Amino acid sequence: MMQNLGRAKLSEGTEIFELINLWATRGQLLPRTLGEVYENIRDFYVVREENKVIACAALHITWGNLAELKSIAVIDEKQSSGYGRMLVDQCVQEGIELELSQIFALTYQPKFFEKLGWHQADVMSLPQKVWNECYRCPKFPACEEIAVTIDINVL
Ligand SMILES: CC(C)(COP(=O)(O)OP(=O)(O)OC[C@H]1O[C@@H](n2cnc3c(N)ncnc32)[C@H](O)[C@@H]1OP(=O)(O)O)[C@@H](O)C(=O)NCCC(=O)NCCS
Repeated sequence: MMQNLGRAKLSEGTEIFELINLWATRGQLLPRTLGEVYENIRDFYVVREENKVIACAALHITWGNLAELKSIAVIDEKQSSGYGRMLVDQCVQEGIELELSQIFALTYQPKFFEKLGWHQADVMSLPQKVWNECYRCPKFPACEEIAVTIDINVL
């Protein structure tokens, strides 16, 4: 079957929304509203198989040299098939083109990111994230997600 990776289309918004929220109900991702998916649709990459979204990830710029990798998810049937790696590689490639210094993610799956060359970090070393979003989160400061980062400017 043919897969292709590309930027998300607006018509794929509901599929992305459903995929993220499937994993959110399992406690692995933060939930997103359909409105948030549409507002941020230009951040998203998807992998498609026969025009169906089988994986997604978003690269969201947070500062002049920093971006967050968000909402990375793969459908159940296609886990461990390399699509997570493909999406992270694509976001890192875009980060290089944008001349970012660093990309970070907050995750319950740090080992996946470490496999791809990312490192665990203290979330407090990401002040832009803390100022913007963490302070408003009901879980702050007792967040159980682990911060992982990759330095782009040394790749
Ligand atoms: C985490 C997730 C995105 C990984 O995607 P995937 O397509 O299954 O992963 P890949 O097949 O690309 O794996 C790449 C490598 O990471 C490893 N890996 C994948 N998930 C892992 C995990 N949870 N723990 C440790 N290693 C993992 C794989 O074994 C593979 O290593 P290899 O190249 O030596 O074989 C996917 O499991 C998923 O959708 N999880 C639910 C949502 C989620 O937790 N997202 C991350 C939070 S931000």
